[in-house]
Amino acid sequence: MMRLLLFLLAATLSSQAAEPTWSHEIAPLVYAHCTACHHAGGAAPFPLTNYADAKRWSGLMQTVTSSRYMPPWLPEPGYGSFADSRRLSDEQLALIRAWVAHGAPEGDPSQTPSPPTYTSEWQLGPPDLVLEVSSPTEIPAQGTDVFLNLILPGEVKTTRWIRAMEIKPGSPRLVHHANVIIDRTASLRRLHPNDWQNGIPGMDIALDSGTTFDPDSHLLFWKSDSLALVEPKDMPWRLDPGNDLVLNMHLKPTGKPEKITARIGLYFASAPATKLPMLLELEHDAALDIPAGDAHFVVEDKLTLPEAVDVLAVYPHAHYLGKEMQAYAVLPDGSRKWIILINDWDIERQAIYRLAAPLRLPRGSTIHMRYSYDNSAGNVRNPHNPPVRVHAGNRSEDEMGHLWLQVLPVDSTVDGKDARLPLERAWMQEKLLKDPADPTALYNLASMDLDSGHPATAENLLSRALHSRPQDARLLTALGLAYDREGRPQQAENALTAAIAADHTYPDAQFDLARVQLDEGAFAKAEAGFRNYLALSPSDLAGHDGLGSALLAQSRTAEAKQEFETAVAANPKDFDALYNLASIEADANEMSQATSLLESALAVRKDADAERLLGLIKAKQGAMAEAIAHMQAARDLNPKDAATHTYLARMYGQVQRWPNAVAEQKAALAIDASHAEDWTLLGQLEQGAGDAAAAQQAFSKAAALQAR
Ligand code: HEC
Repeated sequence: MMRLLLFLLAATLSSQAAEPTWSHEIAPLVYAHCTACHHAGGAAPFPLTNYADAKRWSGLMQTVTSSRYMPPWLPEPGYGSFADSRRLSDEQLALIRAWVAHGAPEGDPSQTPSPPTYTSEWQLGPPDLVLEVSSPTEIPAQGTDVFLNLILPGEVKTTRWIRAMEIKPGSPRLVHHANVIIDRTASLRRLHPNDWQNGIPGMDIALDSGTTFDPDSHLLFWKSDSLALVEPKDMPWRLDPGNDLVLNMHLKPTGKPEKITARIGLYFASAPATKLPMLLELEHDAALDIPAGDAHFVVEDKLTLPEAVDVLAVYPHAHYLGKEMQAYAVLPDGSRKWIILINDWDIERQAIYRLAAPLRLPRGSTIHMRYSYDNSAGNVRNPHNPPVRVHAGNRSEDEMGHLWLQVLPVDSTVDGKDARLPLERAWMQEKLLKDPADPTALYNLASMDLDSGHPATAENLLSRALHSRPQDARLLTALGLAYDREGRPQQAENALTAAIAADHTYPDAQFDLARVQLDEGAFAKAEAGFRNYLALSPSDLAGHDGLGSALLAQSRTAEAKQEFETAVAANPKDFDALYNLASIEADANEMSQATSLLESALAVRKDADAERLLGLIKAKQGAMAEAIAHMQAARDLNPKDAATHTYLARMYGQVQRWPNAVAEQKAALAIDASHAEDWTLLGQLEQGAGDAAAAQQAFSKAAALQAR
């Protein structure tokens, strides 16, 4: 009897489960998958945050979920696996169907979980720094799409590492999506000096990434249901003084004029990144030449990895004609690993996809991108009716085919160097295969050659790039740098002067020319150059250091001191400024000031000059043991400096360590034997050591040199 009763009970329970209710099954599903957009003030046109609303929309909810129109989610299941996937499972779809089939019952309202709250406040609490546009941006009433780039100067005084960012571009009904791009050189603002506050139109923008190897590292993307972007541990991104954040936005006019006030909240990490990812891009836009009516136009690209990487995130991008997007890797063993597959691309739903788990691709894997485009009248998203021939371009009616990947090298260094360098090199060489005159590829390869001490190859690549762009200030500046490193200062000056003539607002050209002039002893010119540079980049400390050095060289000590003090105030670890200040103090006989500045400098890095100066100060104060220790350190750091050996020899002499003194002075003479006084000193030291014959020999060398 007992058995039968239990069986009956189980049967009633399971029949209840077949009739889902709002309070029991549907509300949790909707709260988890829909209300991020479907809430008052959210991106979707109506809320689904309570039973009455859900009931009203229930029929359509079933239709749009079954067709997978909602929630918006482009990637095909089974071809890559993503964190924060919005895709509903077949069971969840069945649940919604069953709920609607039973008349969308509420169930027991007291059992309904409370809906999530959506705040207009900062989700992670008050940010460490809020960047805001200087005045609200006006969005016209008319039109379907507005593409606008707002520039928010970074406003940091020292380098900060950003562990999280919240983008508040404006109402999600108005702002469709937004990207944050770091403009390391404030290039967009310089291009638009008078009107940058109003925003710069354009769907995609190109920024100048500067002369040092500093690849983009993070995909900073906002869509209407975005939470704050929290970066993985150890992987914050860097924001330097003088950087701008560019908010690249897609806006949808609402029919009436509107204003938005874009804001970005930044949260600082307590320590710099220890893992350095980079972005790689596959594309072949030059091949985008899509005949009108062609429904299957294919563009492909590939990249073979010279190093093993973990793929962390992927951002596929095309405009309105893009249809099918494939991204996969072929491993050295021939197997294929899917990164993403999108069968029906929709730019309105573009997003960044973070992988659920890093995808390990061994060295030698080849990443493939294969996009197909539909330029027929049958493509409902085609901006042209009838279709027209379409090429690559930044306007929304042009096309693009980009596949961005965020990758983290498995080994952070290769042969002691940043592992991202070989990746960048492989990527740029692949670009040159597509277009041997590609100026970006030539420039980036040249920069790497400059950094790795191959200025002649750099010069060659840059000359190639200048063929097609003879007036490019950036190429000319890099060429100037290459000449300088080759020890050809006159050619360097010429190239840098040409760079300034091409664009007198390009700060790097001003800086490099001033530095070359400083090295050449043209101190007044260098001073003027550093002043020009500081007018363009007031917060750059290297500019203050350079100006200080140019002033010091002209014996304008007080002015020089001011420049170095400005630099140290902004960055207490500015080695050059600390060292230069110390030498000014030492000249003024302020020995304790000089000592503490040198100690700070040496805490930043080991340096022969700083050790030597500290040694001299200690000797002057009579602290011979310390003096000798610092001078020994200077000698070990730079054993080829004859003067250091001589200083050390004198110090040993003073404490009567004669054999050491003699050995040190002989080392000095092995480097440079041309000065009589050095031989005289050796003679004196040999005398101290008690070797009269050797002393006599040294004195006669000195006499011979003097007689010349
Ligand atoms: C990322 C934001 C987002 C999410 C998540 C989302 N929606 Fe939507 N939904 C929208 C937007 C925006 C619209 C209106 C424009 C459109 O059709 O894309 C919309 C429209 C709808 C419509 C009306 C469709 C029509 O044809 O008028 C329904 C019904 C709907 N959503 C249901 C859902 C359900 C159910 C879920 C969760 C399972 C969901 N949505 C998740 C953004 C979202």
